[in-house]
Amino acid sequence: MASTIRPPGELSSRDLLVVLLFLCQTIVCDSQCPKFAERPLETRVLDASIVFRAVVVETHLQSKTLDLALVSIYRGGLDLASVSQYSGSPYNTTDRQINLKIGAQLIACFNWSMAPQSELVVFSRVSDPIEDLETTPPDGPWLEATAAAVPWSLGVDIAIWNAVGWAGWGEWGVCSKTCGGGRQTRRRYCSKGFCEGFGEQWRSCNSFECEGTINPLAPGARRNFHPAQAKWGRVADRPHAFSLRPNSYIWIASSELFAAGNAFPREFTLFLSLRLRPESGGYGQGTLFSLRSRRRSGSFLSLELAGRGAARLVHAGGGSKKTIYLAVPLYDFRWHHIAISVHDDNTVRVYVDCRWLRTDVLEKDALDTPRDADLIIGYLFSGDLEQLVLVPRAGQAYKQCSSQANGSITPYVSLNT
Ligand SMILES: *[C@@H]1O[C@H](CO)[C@@H](O)[C@H](O)[C@H]1NC(C)=O
Ligand SMILES: *[C@@H]1O[C@H](CO)[C@@H](O)[C@H](O)[C@H]1NC(C)=O
Ligand SMILES: *[C@@H]1O[C@H](CO)[C@@H](O)[C@H](O)[C@H]1NC(C)=O
Repeated sequence: MASTIRPPGELSSRDLLVVLLFLCQTIVCDSQCPKFAERPLETRVLDASIVFRAVVVETHLQSKTLDLALVSIYRGGLDLASVSQYSGSPYNTTDRQINLKIGAQLIACFNWSMAPQSELVVFSRVSDPIEDLETTPPDGPWLEATAAAVPWSLGVDIAIWNAVGWAGWGEWGVCSKTCGGGRQTRRRYCSKGFCEGFGEQWRSCNSFECEGTINPLAPGARRNFHPAQAKWGRVADRPHAFSLRPNSYIWIASSELFAAGNAFPREFTLFLSLRLRPESGGYGQGTLFSLRSRRRSGSFLSLELAGRGAARLVHAGGGSKKTIYLAVPLYDFRWHHIAISVHDDNTVRVYVDCRWLRTDVLEKDALDTPRDADLIIGYLFSGDLEQLVLVPRAGQAYKQCSSQANGSITPYVSLNT
């Protein structure tokens, strides 16, 4: 920082570098991302005071800046908050826009025609007005890239969390209520003496009203199990979950589903939480749920496993059959949450893991649910089932769990201390 006094005419190494870069940019070198900017991820993490994940909103080659929308912060939350005019928790990423400046050296490290919505991991720091006279504008410090950004992927995500000291998040725990608004938490562990950020998160879950809810897995609703409920496997870490085998299923007659005389509702939302087991192997098969007409054979609405990473919602009736494919990453053998809302007999809205996945509007009455439907759960399915709740109202799918989580810094997250 402090410059040494030297005789006029003598070049410092910094001046030489500037000259070299000038030559590079004008004649000698191709525009290539310099080696230092493409070092291993761990090194890039260590060299940056702020590392975050963001979605590209717009690129500006002229001003050498990127407009980004923040998704999550790996390190440097406080620093980042200091340049993004943001009040509140530094880890609340809601609505946060970020402007990133790319120094001359790193221009070739960024794809300036990158499509909006590309997701990146960005390595950066806050510019220092004393060192960066040229790049820091009068209205305050900037956020500056320190290395080439990398496209976000699950693998990159894990590598970066590991580099900052956090092991991956554990599973979300059981929701504290089966309806009426509960809460669930998840934890992660710090493998260094200190890790920045939250060690525990919570979110709201099952926030639909209890009225009219059908919960075949609830205590006291056990007589529909085949074979007898006592013979079903329990799941070690999940007190309310059952282990289903291909020869076990739950069958509830339509007369028991809703108060006597009531037909199956035209509008409903179905909530499922399940986990596939590795021993179910290869391609998954089986029916997660099926609503089958008593009188009309071949008339049903069902959710079936459809091979790796997919499930399909099948409706059959009146001689035709419709299928909607749902991308569900079941083959990571973790818990997943699926919520399906049906209304007007033709509109299906699907949420997977607390996020909207798709909405399909089919022909009129395409999903005409059999009014005399029996509900069959888990036929030929092999896996763990924690939640299966039916609510006689549409438009509730987003209430299975919130996509926004709140965090807290828990005192026990460090394994080393
Ligand atoms: C996060 O920020 C948003 C936008 O400013 C705000 O509406 C929300 O309440 C904040 N959430 C928390 C948990 O502070
Ligand atoms: C830059 O991004 C565009 C759009 O996302 C892509 O088509 C192109 O291949 C990328 N160029 C390079 C060099 O990665
Ligand atoms: C997160 O915390 C804020 C403020 O404490 C609260 O208003 C909000 O409801 C919480 N969100 C969840 C999902 O618990």
